[in-house]
Amino acid sequence: MIYLNGDFMPIEEARIPVLDRGFIFGDGVYEVIPVYSRKPFRLAEHLRRLQHSLDGIRLRNPHAIGEWTHLLEQIIAGNESNDQSLYLHVTRGVAKRDHAFPKAVSPTVFIMSNPLLTPPEEWLETGVAAITSTDNRWLRCDVKAISLLPNVLLRQMAIDADAMETVLLRDGYMTEGAASNIFVVKDDVLLAPPKNHLMLPGITYDVILELAAARKIPHEVREVSEEEVRSAEELLLTSSTKEILPITRLDGKPVGNGRPGALFAMLYELYQEYKITVMRGGDTLVETS
Ligand code: PDD
Repeated sequence: MIYLNGDFMPIEEARIPVLDRGFIFGDGVYEVIPVYSRKPFRLAEHLRRLQHSLDGIRLRNPHAIGEWTHLLEQIIAGNESNDQSLYLHVTRGVAKRDHAFPKAVSPTVFIMSNPLLTPPEEWLETGVAAITSTDNRWLRCDVKAISLLPNVLLRQMAIDADAMETVLLRDGYMTEGAASNIFVVKDDVLLAPPKNHLMLPGITYDVILELAAARKIPHEVREVSEEEVRSAEELLLTSSTKEILPITRLDGKPVGNGRPGALFAMLYELYQEYKITVMRGGDTLVETS
């Protein structure tokens, strides 16, 4: 069951007009929210980021937080899996094709759910491969825009090279992955690039940094150079759907000793524990450092 502009229906019945600005211009923003045991994970943070994205494209939020929460609850209840990946999407609506914003047009609101498949054991045990590429996206990567063509092409480069992700480099520094955030372990310190307009402020990224702070894992938020990426002891990938994964090969060469490292193992365990705490209603972590 999906939600489209006020109605719930099976996805096969959902239709949008071809003049929707999402279709014509990619003029819209989205969120992906993981749901564990039918409870949305870090919902407030995802809805806050949605507001940031809507502000970034100058589109009024069509729903108050309470309304979003109610819509999402109905979608969760209307779908089978206990663990789901919610996708919500807002576009500037339907109007005659013209780049300028249309006047008095209602936004299109779409929500769907897919079963949330946690990464296969093999990825956790042996790690995944990644490649690097130049980050050729726009300068507002903090906006979770539906116009994802650069990300699509960058991610496909990885697939074509039998890898899982593309690590993006801009002006000698790492930004993020094509569809994930990236952490580097160097001299036993967890390094994370600072949140700015060059990367998406990941919700999983925040959780990892909060866990590191709470457990006194040495970590630094600062620019990470290409050289540090290439000589890293560990590389970690995070996203709402992949949680946390070890990257053990980069551009065909082993990362560190080529096996998932100690910091990955620790953060993976902490993340799983934290999920259980949250599911039981005991969300405790907040920003600490
Ligand atoms: N993408 N950076 C980019 C470019 C992303 O697309 C994503 C996630 C992230 C990680 O953010 P979070 O931890 O909040 O999921 C970082 C989602 C999952 C997607 O587009 O499907």
